[in-house]
Amino acid sequence: MDEILEYRSVNFKYKNQKKMVLNDMNLGVGVGEFVTVLGDSGSGKTTLLKLANKLLLPTDGTICFKGKDINSYDVFELRKNMGYVIQEVGLFPHMNVKENISILSKINNMSKYKIEERVNELLSLAQLPNTNEFKRRHPWQLSGGQQQRVGLARALFGNPEILLMDEPFGALDVVTREKLQRRLIEIQKMYNKTILFVTHSLQEAITLGDKVIILHEGIIQQFDTPKNLVLNPRNEYVRTLFNAPTPVDKMKFFSVADFSELIYQGKPNPIVAVQRSEPMVKVLNWILKGKKVISVYDKENFIGNMYVEDLRHIGEI
Ligand SMILES: Nc1ncnc2c1ncn2[C@@H]1O[C@H](COP(=O)(O)OP(=O)(O)OP(=O)(O)O)[C@@H](O)[C@H]1O
Ligand SMILES: [Mg+2]
Repeated sequence: MDEILEYRSVNFKYKNQKKMVLNDMNLGVGVGEFVTVLGDSGSGKTTLLKLANKLLLPTDGTICFKGKDINSYDVFELRKNMGYVIQEVGLFPHMNVKENISILSKINNMSKYKIEERVNELLSLAQLPNTNEFKRRHPWQLSGGQQQRVGLARALFGNPEILLMDEPFGALDVVTREKLQRRLIEIQKMYNKTILFVTHSLQEAITLGDKVIILHEGIIQQFDTPKNLVLNPRNEYVRTLFNAPTPVDKMKFFSVADFSELIYQGKPNPIVAVQRSEPMVKVLNWILKGKKVISVYDKENFIGNMYVEDLRHIGEI
């Protein structure tokens, strides 16, 4: 897979500070990947994002965008290609919705007509009203969820290849958060965007991320798929984070669909069955009841079977 963003031996400390905030960062984000960064407060998540678009410069090491050192890019060109949703939304309070979304048009020198067209397009993409009344509102006249949607629309304005998102849904209630998560995944798939997404919610990190960076005290503890993090934690920190002593506890993080590679052809058995969208725990429950073959369905459609032998590696089943 081609890597769109790469950190090579990056260290960072703030001026006048002794302690490194990020230590020996080595990571690559592939084109079209959704990578989440999970870490506690102060672990360096925001710093990691800011380095990507040169809001901060590494103390040593190199960061590459599309295979080229970011220092070789014009800074505006670079930022145009990296939509940034900052922590706490960061909409400009004195600007209305339309002005906030189209802030980049000043750099691009776009016509009024083009701006209007792009703003309308982005409002509908973010599932917001595109009425003149709405476009004229100021941030304080929007709900938290609407502000986040405007923030997302603004980040997408220049059609960037990668989105850098810093706890974008942190302040939202669960229902709004889940709606926005779903929309973000849809947009990502529709336009094949790459996303680097910071969160301190474990659930969010593993539901959204194809891969997750676990950051603690400025050090990457593990950079892996959610499945590997849970099943093969590399150290005590990661193990404790998931706090999942038994196979059943581990499976609470996954749905049957997360284990699609273990579904094989076979004969359907509608009695010993699970839905693809159901929690993986359901499969384990069948196994604990002594069943050796479990049929997987997507609504009424039989997809295939899961076999107990293939599930042993998950734990002592
Ligand atoms: N401008 C600054 N000057 C000096 N130290 C800073 C500065 N900004 C952040 N730090 C320190 O760097 C470390 C990492 O900060 P960072 O903002 O990257 O953390 P974070 O993981 O984003 O935290 P949070 O989840 O609270 O947003 C912290 O110890 C913080 O106090
Ligand atoms: Mg932060």
